[in-house]
Amino acid sequence: MKTCQADACGKVILFGEHSVVYGYPAIAMPLMNIRLKATVAKTDSDKIEEPDLEIREKLVQTIETARQLLGINCRISLKITSQIPIGAGLGSSAALNVAVTRALAKLEGMKRTAAQTAATAFEMEKIYHGTPSGIDTTVSSNEKPIYFIKGQNPDFIAAKQISLVIANTGTRAPTKQVVAEVREKREKDTGKYDQIMAEIGEISGNARQCLQEGNVKMIGTLMNRNQKLLEQLGVSSPELNRLIATATDNGALGAKLSGAGKGGCIVAVAESKKKAEGIADALRVVSKNAFHVTV
Ligand code: MEV
Repeated sequence: MKTCQADACGKVILFGEHSVVYGYPAIAMPLMNIRLKATVAKTDSDKIEEPDLEIREKLVQTIETARQLLGINCRISLKITSQIPIGAGLGSSAALNVAVTRALAKLEGMKRTAAQTAATAFEMEKIYHGTPSGIDTTVSSNEKPIYFIKGQNPDFIAAKQISLVIANTGTRAPTKQVVAEVREKREKDTGKYDQIMAEIGEISGNARQCLQEGNVKMIGTLMNRNQKLLEQLGVSSPELNRLIATATDNGALGAKLSGAGKGGCIVAVAESKKKAEGIADALRVVSKNAFHVTV
């Protein structure tokens, strides 16, 4: 029996979540060492190794959609192993869609570019998120820092390495639901919400330059401003605010929620790897899972 494996990385959004859904720029970094692996093999009928019924139902749809998009019809067994927490804003569903696409293409001997993988995974992502912007699947397929505008080719950033700290509230918040809530609010008060989104977009533009220069102080300042605007969008939470305060009280240059919000993770920027380690230690007291990464 031919077995194929493929994996994909998680991601962290540094700037521009939510406003990216409305066409404003956002910036995301790949989390190269936090990955999800898909193992597939040809079988007589589909077999999914997943005890959680809800997740299994989604995986059935994922396989079906991937087969249609890739133009193949073999039955497969599928097993997923993941280091990416689910519903934490670190791109678990995007990594799943990218890894499954890669594994199936490999099984069928198809050679595909990162752009083709991103396009397929983006269609699959709709099963999970309804109306995704495409930032998560694009960064997971390309594994590079990106400046992303919905519907456009990704613009890769030649970013200097920076030290980040990521901490999880442990509260899951479905992206689909949080995005829908923001949409509803925006429909009721378009002027107010569009102004907030535009300001966030402007921050992403300025942040791009700072990332190229490795200006971590300014990156921190812009993250704090982005967070204030996310609070105005109503997507922060007491748990997220607590982790953000702990990060900044312990020396972070800036911190914000990352991903859809209402739960999930925060991301903080530190002056050095050593400082990031100290911030992660402090965050571990109030968060189940806190770690530092260099991106
Ligand atoms: C989710 O990681 C980021 C959001 O902006 C949704 C999206 O871009 O599809 C909240």
